[in-house]
Amino acid sequence: MRLSVIGCGYLGAVHATAMASIGHEVVGFDVDADKIGRLAAGEAPFFEPGFDELLRDTLATGRLTFSTEPSDLAAAQVHFIAVGTPQREDGDGADLRFVDAAVQGLLPVLSEGDVVVGKSTVPVGTAQRLADIVAPTGALLLWNPEFLREGFAVQDTLEPDRIVYGTADPEGPGVAILDEVYAKALAAGIPRLVTDFSTSELVKVAANAFLATKISFINAMSEIADATGADVTQLADAIGHDVRIGRRFLNAGVGFGGGCLPKDIRAFATRAEELGHGRALRFLREVDEINLRQRNRLVDVVSEELGGSVAGRRIAILGLAFKPNSDDTRDSPALDIATRLHGLGADVISYDPEAIETARRVRPHLTYARTADEALAGAEATVVVTEWEQFRQLDPETAADLVADRLIIDGRNCLDAGRWRAAGWSYRGLGRR
Ligand code: UDX
Repeated sequence: MRLSVIGCGYLGAVHATAMASIGHEVVGFDVDADKIGRLAAGEAPFFEPGFDELLRDTLATGRLTFSTEPSDLAAAQVHFIAVGTPQREDGDGADLRFVDAAVQGLLPVLSEGDVVVGKSTVPVGTAQRLADIVAPTGALLLWNPEFLREGFAVQDTLEPDRIVYGTADPEGPGVAILDEVYAKALAAGIPRLVTDFSTSELVKVAANAFLATKISFINAMSEIADATGADVTQLADAIGHDVRIGRRFLNAGVGFGGGCLPKDIRAFATRAEELGHGRALRFLREVDEINLRQRNRLVDVVSEELGGSVAGRRIAILGLAFKPNSDDTRDSPALDIATRLHGLGADVISYDPEAIETARRVRPHLTYARTADEALAGAEATVVVTEWEQFRQLDPETAADLVADRLIIDGRNCLDAGRWRAAGWSYRGLGRR
């Protein structure tokens, strides 16, 4: 099939490439000429495991092209909208400027029988509004939310847990056309749910709200664990054995960040308020607050361990990305903590295997090390804030020779406390004995 994907960020670039890799003819469109130039040259504009290779292999088939020229969209029959919906600058709601611009930009190339498919995360009510804008062209609109996780974007796009189509007409041709797009995944037995617009929009934000709530729940438990001498990791293991609860997304630490969870729960709570049902989602404000409080807690632990003040103290920060296997520092607890400690006068040196360049762009005033060893050299405190495998694997004996003081603060509860203590380190986690 001939597809277009509008917006070539994490979501769009991976979707365009994945769809071309399974046999469709795809044009990826973006207004950012630099991004398009890099993608067309086979160079991923972000770090995502497996994506570079898939991009290069798929470009070689000739089925995947990238363009900044709107007229290049005209040949496609199905147009995916995969632009960002960031938090508004003047509030907590979603900024729909890019979605609106994408739809307006499409109108001149749309004709009878074309299908516009929204993938971006939008406030409930948006799909119907956009369907009304598209209708006079004779094209149809469906909403098909995307659930990909950074670090697993390729796998999640090719083999999603489920596929959801939101449509005003479940019996109409739009469903059959999307079935053809996703024929491979559907043949593999991946569940497909056809819903109305509102449900499809809510599925995405409800899933992210649930995940965020799970993380903040365990972080709240970590605060109580700290107050009572309990161990939150053992607690999570024990409650996680209950299949109704499950162990995943119960890792306490400095909390969630990234381009999705934080802004999605804020936009969702704001939308509920607009609908006159703010009370229903008021708990999401608390989820947000618990999450942000974890960052303060970690800064307080560092300060406490350093005798009450971090000013002038050498602190090694291991991690900048909001999670491992990503170079994304949007709303990253790790980068926030490095920034705060620097702001409190600490001599902070940070290292991350992939995210230094993205961090430097937004925080040029921070100091970055080229290697983990360089960050550790002379450190009076070592703080792990992103659970990269490289940090999990750090050898406490070797690290001990580099630092000034054997003080390790595990902001992701990802290290083997016993091993570090056995090597003479003072170990602190969040909610961990
Ligand atoms: C999320 C959703 O998982 C995905 O389905 C959606 O499409 C986009 O948003 P992503 O932003 O890639 O994906 O990150 P995710 O893996 O969900 O992690 C979010 C944050 O939560 C990270 O900062 C991570 O470190 C943190 N986290 C996760 C915890 O603090 N504890 C956990 O137990 C799990």
